Amino acid sequence: MLPRLIDGFGRVHNNLRISVTDRCNLRCTYCMPEEVTFLPRDELLTFEEIARIVRVAVKLGIDKLRLTGGEPLLRRNLDRLTAMLSAIPEIKDISLTTNGLLLSEQAKALHLAGLRRINVSLDTLRPEVFRHLTRRDGLDRILAGLESARTIGFHPIKLNAVILRGVNDEDIVPLVRFALENGFEMRFIEYMPIGAEPWERAKVFFAHEIMERIENEIGSLIPAPDYDPRSPAMEFCLADGSGRVGIIASVSRPFCHHCNRIRLTADGKLRNCLFALEEADLKSVLRNGGSDEDIAEVFRANVAAKWEGHEINTARFIKPLRTMHAIGG
Ligand code: 5AD
Ligand code: SF4
Repeated sequence: MLPRLIDGFGRVHNNLRISVTDRCNLRCTYCMPEEVTFLPRDELLTFEEIARIVRVAVKLGIDKLRLTGGEPLLRRNLDRLTAMLSAIPEIKDISLTTNGLLLSEQAKALHLAGLRRINVSLDTLRPEVFRHLTRRDGLDRILAGLESARTIGFHPIKLNAVILRGVNDEDIVPLVRFALENGFEMRFIEYMPIGAEPWERAKVFFAHEIMERIENEIGSLIPAPDYDPRSPAMEFCLADGSGRVGIIASVSRPFCHHCNRIRLTADGKLRNCLFALEEADLKSVLRNGGSDEDIAEVFRANVAAKWEGHEINTARFIKPLRTMHAIGG
């Protein structure tokens, strides 16, 4: 039996994204509907269950973890889970994607638990646009959270912005400047058809347009010296070597052929793709007394069944039923 998670296209999977809750304290329009029914708590994997799954996964070659949600900081005692996972010797890298609202309160405990890298979603610096995009208030708290995280010593701190044409494309340049001034890495993400709203291609602000804005108003972008062409983000720095800007062109330049990721949802389903239409039920295996080998077999089968890639750009594309918050970003 294969010791590693290799799919039918030869892709080796070493990266597991773990959603710890589907709840969120924002309601970003591109991610979830305004009214949502969240999972009942007993449907969520416990920390012990998550750690058990990860201990099996590392034997299959997983060495990189990302904690996501929903909003992961809404899961009580996330620092305890972080400590449990960072204690697993095979794990080389663990990071967190958060909206930053609760970062001021939790950054210290997470750092103590072994977390060093975070991605904070920040789509705009304008309060009224923030309210429109997230259907909530909170920009100030996020900015304060970022400041705490920086002071505590997180590094790198990456800012993720999803750009929607006509909504926040005017924020591209101010966000890059803000990131440069504060020592954060800026990352732009093309808008993908995974939210609740009907997706229109016309709303996608494409990678080349993002670059053009930055180059026209700030300066030339050159490939970052340590840029890894297999990573989802195209990484740039300014011509003087300063700053760092990543662009995740999921729509205009899909990176599926280098995908090394699988996802575990908060309710214990394994997904071999963000856009997967089928999931494997790991939680039932665990709760019905399955062995570690049974868990490993679910992983192997799920990865073996992985398709070549999403088909966003074709008429064959079918949007998954779950929206982003319930899958894990
Ligand atoms: N398209 C692109 N990115 C998205 N995210 C959520 N929904 C979408 C979408 N429809 C991003 C969030 C966050 C990460 C978890 O996923 O902005 O940064
Ligand atoms: Fe919450 Fe993140 Fe979805 Fe926004 S993108 S609603 S912050 S889970």
